[in-house]
Amino acid sequence: MDKKNLTLGEFIIENQDSFQYTSGELSRLLNGLRLAAKVVNHEVNKAGLVDIIGAAGDTNIQGENQQKLDVLANEKFIQTLSKREIVCGIASEEEDDFISINSFDKQHQNKYIVLIDPLDGSSNIDVNVSVGTIFSIYRRITPVGTPVTIEDFLQPGKNQVAAGYIIYGTSTMLVYTTGDGVNGFTLNPALGTFYLSHPNMEFPETGKIYSVNEGNYVHFPQGVKDYIKYCQEEEGDRPYTSRYIGSLVSDFHRNMIKGGIYMYPKSSKASNGKLRLLYECNPMAFLAEQAKGKASNGHQAIMEIEPTELHERVPFFCGSKKMVDKAEEFMNA
Ligand code: AHG
Ligand code: MN
Ligand code: MN
Repeated sequence: MDKKNLTLGEFIIENQDSFQYTSGELSRLLNGLRLAAKVVNHEVNKAGLVDIIGAAGDTNIQGENQQKLDVLANEKFIQTLSKREIVCGIASEEEDDFISINSFDKQHQNKYIVLIDPLDGSSNIDVNVSVGTIFSIYRRITPVGTPVTIEDFLQPGKNQVAAGYIIYGTSTMLVYTTGDGVNGFTLNPALGTFYLSHPNMEFPETGKIYSVNEGNYVHFPQGVKDYIKYCQEEEGDRPYTSRYIGSLVSDFHRNMIKGGIYMYPKSSKASNGKLRLLYECNPMAFLAEQAKGKASNGHQAIMEIEPTELHERVPFFCGSKKMVDKAEEFMNA
């Protein structure tokens, strides 16, 4: 069969048997995310109409409050996952605490928890630049049938069973891994169907793009400054090209296709950088490693880090393996 004709729904079913634990539950969960992605895509696409249909804080014609898109995306993902009783717990960048999901006054038998960044790069919405959603899935540690606890959420990234992102770009794509490579699906908006368009995505071993917010340069540690200077030097295949969208999903997606490194280092203003370990770095690290790339905090693999709190931040270096190796070399010099 021509794999490129496969829809995401078909692909999920075809690959169900390759999961370590086959119960169909993870497939239902991925299908839930697929559905929420379509709903959020529809809302994100309307963002430019904000002057016509109302800005956040306004009341619309039905008397409903217009919401900020990150709040709305958060609600849509949580609703889809909790109403269908697919997971036992959810944690979101937009929520202070994790959500424990019960059904019919008793705990159901669901085994999976989900962590999400419902809208990543949200400051780009107002200027019609690509944004995304990031998700990360684990099996719970505590016994099935009991309420989830913080322990279920504070697992190292290496325990992830699946992770992915949706990019609301010039096309809308859903890219994910269940630990068996990375596959990308593009939405046909006329049909509302995702098709396998990018099978077996891989980072080129090295690349020519570096992505970092250079406005923070003077606050970066010396090793990072030195690596940036190395990227700019005239030597061999350098200077590299600087590309920074300010939307991790979009910067990662471009670098995975073209080859490059994304950096959000610590600085004298932010001792752990900005990005969240659980909602942003771990899922991107899982995707990167599955796509033959690498993700590090400068000294240690991201997925080896033992999290201590839900919203913790971590410096992040991610992309083509050789480029991340080189950046680490400078930081550890
Ligand atoms: P979010 O919109 O979920 O808060 O995430 C924004 C993140 C990330 O997507 C992006 O790469 C980074 O913040 C940009 O930060 P700076 O504006 O500090 O460069
Ligand atoms: Mn984000
Ligand atoms: Mn966000």
